[in-house]
Amino acid sequence: MSRSGSSSGREVILGIGGGIAAYKSCDLLRRLQEYGFLVTVVPTPASLNFVGATTWEALSGRPVLSEVWQDVPSVAHINLANRADYILIGPATADLIARIAQGRADDLLTNVVLASGAPKLIVPAMHPQMWLNPSTVANVETLRERGFIVMAPEVGRLTGSDVGQGRFPETAKIIEQFQEIVGWNSDLLGYRLLITAGGTREPIDPVRFIGNRSSGKQGYAVALAAVTRGARVQLIAANCELPDIEGVEIIPVETTADMARELDERFFECDALIMCAAVADARPVRPSIEKIKKNELESIELEPNPDLLASLAAKKSLSQVLVGFAAETQDHLENAAQKLLRKNLDLLYVNDVSGGAIFGSDMTRGTIITRDGGEIVVSEASKDTLANVLLDQVNFRLSLPNV
Ligand code: CTP
Repeated sequence: MSRSGSSSGREVILGIGGGIAAYKSCDLLRRLQEYGFLVTVVPTPASLNFVGATTWEALSGRPVLSEVWQDVPSVAHINLANRADYILIGPATADLIARIAQGRADDLLTNVVLASGAPKLIVPAMHPQMWLNPSTVANVETLRERGFIVMAPEVGRLTGSDVGQGRFPETAKIIEQFQEIVGWNSDLLGYRLLITAGGTREPIDPVRFIGNRSSGKQGYAVALAAVTRGARVQLIAANCELPDIEGVEIIPVETTADMARELDERFFECDALIMCAAVADARPVRPSIEKIKKNELESIELEPNPDLLASLAAKKSLSQVLVGFAAETQDHLENAAQKLLRKNLDLLYVNDVSGGAIFGSDMTRGTIITRDGGEIVVSEASKDTLANVLLDQVNFRLSLPNV
């Protein structure tokens, strides 16, 4: 069967079977999103007795259908099947497993499964007698023979007084198994990534500064995604009030000069530099040691800051990958394409910040442009998702032979 899949490579169908563990998949959905997956939930009609479509819609931010008879013109089963890069079904009941094993298509989820060639992970949850029943054992065997990955349920307490094998595994275990299928665990292993985040500040006097509205969330999202994928990450963070990330070396800085110094120290050792930080374009020529009285604040003489990214790009080795971020309010792509060439970058993410829409938000919307003229549109995605899409591009370029 041919598989089309999405351009992002991160589209997941999360199928929900009619078991009480359906509520645990709310957490699974959240975790998948945190890892940068774009998730569409397809519950079986029976599962809606446990968790309703409203909950799935609210959590996924996407419409939720469970029957082929809903929204017929959209031909949902084929569209979803074509879009899916992965299908994860959990909890899978004995009945759902039986229906899939028989190739039946009597609700939207089983239709999608039948129509999709995407890798499929099934996470069963049921009472031990049902799991051990020869029918279920045979159905699971059939699915495994056909290439489905079927996790074994865990041993423990179930609903009622039952104890035995049948429990839905912990979310972390499911994610671990899923990541193995996706093969992301360590695709950046061995690479050293230098990332900047936040916004530099230039003191006017001890209490005032010239700065910008960058929160640092995007840089932190890239650092988290990179360390999760096995990279060694150093994060130069300018004025960010965000929690530390386990495994990431964070170097706090305040001014552009501080950031320049820390970058210079580390640049030659890194495989990729991702400049998410908003660098203050200018600084006061003579910052005052004493607080300036307000009647002396009429004008502040400024001088431009050096362009950190452009000056590093001028000294970069052939194998290093450089990524910039551009915040534009008009003529986005045109300005961005010129900026990419002017600064000698490999990739540039350009987002529309008109109205201050992106600053401080967890969401972003923009386009990644590449040196060879490629464009990857990122429409209304979380900063975590953008981080992973961007890292895919960085990884691709890092793995190219240097000619
Ligand atoms: N950048 C930098 N040093 C500067 C200004 C920007 O390293 N002095 C980096 C930013 O970190 C970002 C990229 O360059 O990754 C683009 O930033 P942007 O502010 O859009 O670039 P500017 O050169 O300041 O362009 P503009 O003229 O549009 O302000």
